[in-house]
Amino acid sequence: MNSLELKRGNKYIINSLDELNDFAENISFKINKGTTIGLIGEIGAGKTAFIKKLMPKFGVFDVIKSPTYTIVSQYETDNFIIYHTDIYRINDEDELYNIGFEDYFGRNSLVIVEWVDMYKDYVKELSLKYIELTIDVDIKGVRTITITDFDMEE
Ligand SMILES: Nc1ncnc2c1ncn2[C@@H]1O[C@H](COP(=O)(O)OP(=O)(O)O)[C@@H](O)[C@H]1O
Ligand SMILES: [Mg+2]
Repeated sequence: MNSLELKRGNKYIINSLDELNDFAENISFKINKGTTIGLIGEIGAGKTAFIKKLMPKFGVFDVIKSPTYTIVSQYETDNFIIYHTDIYRINDEDELYNIGFEDYFGRNSLVIVEWVDMYKDYVKELSLKYIELTIDVDIKGVRTITITDFDMEE
């Protein structure tokens, strides 16, 4: 995978964590401040694995796990603040609002949302730029990552 074109409907077959790393590196060049990355996929699909590969491209090397219970992990880089959120356990939009979710979005942040499909309209409304990746995994463990939404107009 040499160059990656961000286009809705594009699919990438990922056979291993090394290939996931290549994918993460390629997509990292397309991601900048003010972007939201929405991730969709069942438990075990590889949402967090993708984030763990992506974060070092921005200089963050200490991603431990999904913030399923804590909802958000925050990382400061030289260029921007990254919010890694997992909204699986959120019950409604009011709860998201009450934890200050809306404050994560802005020109100097990169927001990554695991389980974005639960509150997609709300997340998209808050986002300046939006990339959505849906991860499917087959019985052999081969992943397909599809760009299911893409909205990058400034
Ligand atoms: N592309 C991949 N190749 C091999 N193993 C993977 C891949 N993506 C994820 N995994 C493995 O699958 C398991 C579940 O992944 P995880 O990222 O925790 O899923 P999710 O966050 O979607 O629930 C982890 O052990 C992870 O290392
Ligand atoms: Mg996870």
